[in-house]
Parts: sequence; structure tokens; C-alpha cells
Amino acid sequence: GSKSVQAKLVLLGDMGTGKTSLVLRFVKGQFFDFQESTIGAAFFSQTISLNEATVKFDIWDTAGQERYHSLAPMYYRGAAAAVVVYDITSMDSFLRAQKWVQELQRQGNPTLFMVLVANKVDLASKRKVEEKDGETYARENGLLYMETSAKTAQNVNELFYEIAKHLAKT
Ligand code: GTP
Repeated sequence: GSKSVQAKLVLLGDMGTGKTSLVLRFVKGQFFDFQESTIGAAFFSQTISLNEATVKFDIWDTAGQERYHSLAPMYYRGAAAAVVVYDITSMDSFLRAQKWVQELQRQGNPTLFMVLVANKVDLASKRKVEEKDGETYARENGLLYMETSAKTAQNVNELFYEIAKHLAKT
């Protein structure tokens, strides 16, 4: 049979950027306009079947509120992939995402596969962070960059497939 990979995946990013919404969209196909803020962290599991491998994700959806920051290393330790999320309508969330990237570069697993996710692209009229700025930051830091909407499902499955494909190769 084809190979089987189990991988820890962590989502990090400012509160309200849509981490839980992205995971619920991927795992359950659901979206809620009034998604409650995560306390501590939440765990989900989901398997993706590719031609070359089956990838089982153990997903840690962390809480973005600053008071939970000190817990984050427990969740990114040993992770194979990290999804750092910002909200395109919030410049602060983009700056916060850059802080997460720096922390992961310093303290994360050296082979960590990182994706910078610009979420809420359905809110184009409220956009504060230009696509080229996200893309440039990602390129300069060796991250994959994707624009998503948990609300419309744009690029959400693609995000997790890209990660699975990368992990299946390693
Ligand atoms: P914390 O748990 O506090 O860290 O937040 P989070 O990053 O998990 O964000 P969450 O998924 O709870 O979403 C916050 C709010 O943004 C909710 O009201 C969601 O409905 C909304 N939201 C999430 N993703 C999108 C999106 O792609 N588009 C729009 N328009 N709203 C979104």
C-alpha cells in the first residue's frame, strides 16, 4: 500500500483572525458568523488521502488572545507544520503574524513547514493588508503564502492539501 504519515499541525495568529473557522471549514464543512473565541487550545483530527500517501493531521487550534501566549510552545513543539493566520482587514494581525513567524524561526522545529495565511478575503472592500505585502513577506522568509476565506471556503481545502503534499514528500 501507499505510505502513511501522521503529522502534528498547529495554527497560530492573533485573536479573531479565523483559525477555528478555517479548521471547522476543513474538518466539518461548517462556518459560523459568531464563532466563539478559543480558550487555551482545541484539538481536531483529519485525514487526507493523496495518491502517494495518506496524511493524518493532529491539529492544534491555539487561542489567539495574548493571555494564552505562554502556552503556545506546548502546541508548536514537535509540529511538522504551522499555519500562521492573519486577517486581511487588520494590519495589527499581519504584524502579529510576523511576530509568530519570528518566534517559530527561533524556537520551532528546524524542519517546520510554515504557511502564511491571509484569511477573510471575502471582505475585499475592508482590506488593509495588500496581497503583495503578504506575498513578499512570505517569500523573503521562505514560507508558503495563501489567501483564504473560511466563510466562502475559498482555498481552505487547498491549504491543507498543500501541507499534506509537502509532508508526504519528506
Ligand atoms: P481566537 O480563538 O480568539 O484566537 O480566534 P480565531 O482566530 O479562532 O477566530 P474565529 O475562527 O473564532 O473567527 C473570529 C470571527 O471571524 C468569527 O466571527 C468568524 O465568523 C469570523 N471569520 C472567520 N473567518 C472568516 C472569513 O474568512 N471571512 C469572514 N467574513 N469572517 C470570518
